[in-house]
This record gives sequence, structure tokens and C-alpha cells, in this order.
Amino acid sequence: MNRSTSAIVIGGGIIGCTVALELAKRNMHVTVLDKGALGQEASTAAAGMLGAQVETHHPGPFYELCAASQQMYREWARELQEISGVSPQYIEQGIVRVALTEEDEAELRSRLPWIRNAEWIDGADARSLEPAIADAARGGLYFGRDHQVHPIHLMNALRAALSRIGCEAREWTPALRLIVRDGRVTGVKTTDGDLYADHTVLAAGAWSPALLEPLAVKLPLFPVRGQCISVRTDAPPIVRTVFTKGCYIVPKQDGTLLIGATQEEAGFNKKTTVSVVSELHRRATALLPALSGAEFVSTWAGLRPGTPDGLPYMGQLQEAPGLTFATGHFRNGILLAPVTGKLVAGLLDGDQPALDLSPFSPERVQ
Ligand code: FAD
Ligand code: GLY
Repeated sequence: MNRSTSAIVIGGGIIGCTVALELAKRNMHVTVLDKGALGQEASTAAAGMLGAQVETHHPGPFYELCAASQQMYREWARELQEISGVSPQYIEQGIVRVALTEEDEAELRSRLPWIRNAEWIDGADARSLEPAIADAARGGLYFGRDHQVHPIHLMNALRAALSRIGCEAREWTPALRLIVRDGRVTGVKTTDGDLYADHTVLAAGAWSPALLEPLAVKLPLFPVRGQCISVRTDAPPIVRTVFTKGCYIVPKQDGTLLIGATQEEAGFNKKTTVSVVSELHRRATALLPALSGAEFVSTWAGLRPGTPDGLPYMGQLQEAPGLTFATGHFRNGILLAPVTGKLVAGLLDGDQPALDLSPFSPERVQ
């Protein structure tokens, strides 16, 4: 690929920015469009867990995709910091996944035959790892390789890296519709005029389907709201992330504790509600009683790009030459960024994918 090849990436979240960076590293001329500021949506609402183990409930292609991205993360974060000069706050502490009920314990035990990088721990082991965990903990799984980053710092690093590598980011420039000439996607109509490129990448998160209107292509994808709160205690009660069914608590470098998250289908509504905030705090306190008197810091919500089968869309369609899909990463877009960037950039460059992409192809919903 050379500088005379061009791409437009619609959507400046973690997925669009990572794909753009990979394309720019391959010497392509890249323009990223965002309807607002880069990273203002799901990507900075996220908790930042790199939970290949904790977030996977079945073996299969999705687990392998998550595991591949997790393996790439440390080096990817290091390189990103080197290019940008900004630390994404990659923290090498694992996740203690605790069961508080018999049913949850059974679900965790059912993963043991296939899950890798996991160790069964009883309640006392869990408390020896993290002494603040409640006595009610029945035991669970310790995922030592499920590290974390800080999504806001990660997006700052990506923004700086794109600028340093010469990738044009057009913020506050919504894509209005795809331009289709003789059946091929040749560009994008924006509020700032028409743009043309050899390739267009659709990475608009939960908003992706709206842009497909000129094509006879289906893309079942919907927003799934996640509400979170941030709290602080006098002394940080945990160093690792602790996670139970319906609630996780992620300790951040600045001493705050991120408590997440709901999973609600409420359209494009990003409101937070008092009842949810108090319920999240109740669940967090059941897991870590030390949070009962915590100082409230903030609350927010983000819209995950959900798909009916829970898998992302990565690939191209015969019906839409010129267009590449990189969307629908639901609960795992932060984790899946490095592998998505490499695979999607490779598709535009004609590489043989390192992983079988057919389970993630948008072909499956046509
Ligand atoms: P987004 O970040 O939503 O980006 C899409 C971008 O497209 C936006 O910036 C938007 O403005 C832009 N856009 C939309 N329409 C247009 C248009 N017409 N023109 C131009 N631009 C447009 N993942 C993890 O791996 N680990 C976690 O711990 C984690 N925790 C989460 C916690 C919460 C509460 C939530 C909500 C999500 C969490 N996720 C997590 C999931 C992760 O945040 C998402 O999968 C990821 O951010 C999706 O990235 P994206 O770039 O596809 O979407
Ligand atoms: N991956 C955590 C969440 O989506 O809430």
C-alpha cells in the first residue's frame, strides 16, 4: 500500500481510531470522521478491563479473538505510548471473579474445562488476594492475565498518535450518507462536503446501521446502555479488579474505583438514573463492604454497539464493494481494539487474515 491509496474511517471511537492508525502505519492516506470529538461515546464510558477470560462464557471463535487481542495488548500499548507520548495506563493486575451465589458458582465452574489462564480459588484464597472482599464470597476464578487500561487515557494516546503519524481527524463532521457510484462505495457525504476515497471503513459504533441506507445491506445492531459510577475511599481497598455477577469494581491509578455497569436496551438515551446508581452501589458494597461509606465522584452512561449474536462485524460484502465493516464490539471493544485494527487494516491491504474471520463476517446476517 502506498500514500496514493486513501481511506475514510467513519467513527472516531477506539475501533475507528485503531483501524485508522494501522492503516496510516501501512502508509495509507487516512481521514477519520466523527460527529463529535474523538472518543466521546462508548469508548470513554468503558471500564477498560481486558477481560478475555472474565467476559467469555463459551469456548469458540469469540474467545479465540479475545485471547489473540489480549496477547497483543502489552506490546500494542507500549508502541502506542512510544508514538504518542501518552500512557494508556496499562495495569498488569488480574481480575478476581467471585461468586456470591450457588448459581453463579456453578456457572464459573462450568468454564473450567475449556477456559485458559484461570485458577479456581475458594473464599479464603479470594480474601488473601484481596482482603476487602466480603465474607459471603463462595470462591471463584482468578484471571491473572485479564489486565486493564484507562479508556480516557487510551483515547488521548490514540488521538495524539493519529496526529503525529499524519492522519487527518475531522471532528464535529458527521457522515450523512455513503456515496455509491456504479454499485461501489466511493466516499461519504458529510456536513462539510463530499469526500472520496479508495476505501471506506464503517466504525460508527451503535450508530452504524443508519449510514447503510443507500445499500441493500442488513446490519442488525442496537445500542445497549451501560451506567457506571465512580467513587473514592480514604485508602484504596483493592489493587486488582473484583467482579461478580452484575457488578465489577475497577481500581484506577488516580485512586478512584469505577463501579459498572448496567446492560439496558433504552435506545440512544444516555441518561443516568438515581435508582440505578444506588443499585450499583448496593451491589458493589455486597462485594466490597468497605465501599459503604465511599465518597461519590461521578456517574455516566455509554452505548455499547450490541449485535443479536454478541459477535462483532468485521469484513466486507460482495454487495458493497469499497466498504469494510468494523463495528458491533458490544462489551469488548477496548479489549478487541488491537486485533481489530490489525485484521481490518489487513483486509484493505489484501493480507491473508491470521484468524478465520468468517464467524464475524457481516455475510452472516444478509
Ligand atoms: P464508539 O466508541 O461508540 O465510537 C463510535 C464513534 O462513531 C463515536 O465517536 C461517534 O460519535 C461516531 N459516529 C457515530 N455516527 C457517526 C456519523 N454519522 N458520522 C461520524 N461519526 C459518527 N469494553 C472492553 O473491552 N472492556 C471494558 O471494560 C468495557 N467496559 C464497558 C463499560 C461500559 C459502561 C460501556 C458502555 C462499554 C464498555 N465496553 C468495554 C465496551 C466498549 O466501550 C465498546 O465495545 C467500544 O467502545 C466500541 O467502540 P466503537 O469505536 O465501536 O464505538
Ligand atoms: N465489558 C464491561 C461492560 O461492557 O460493562
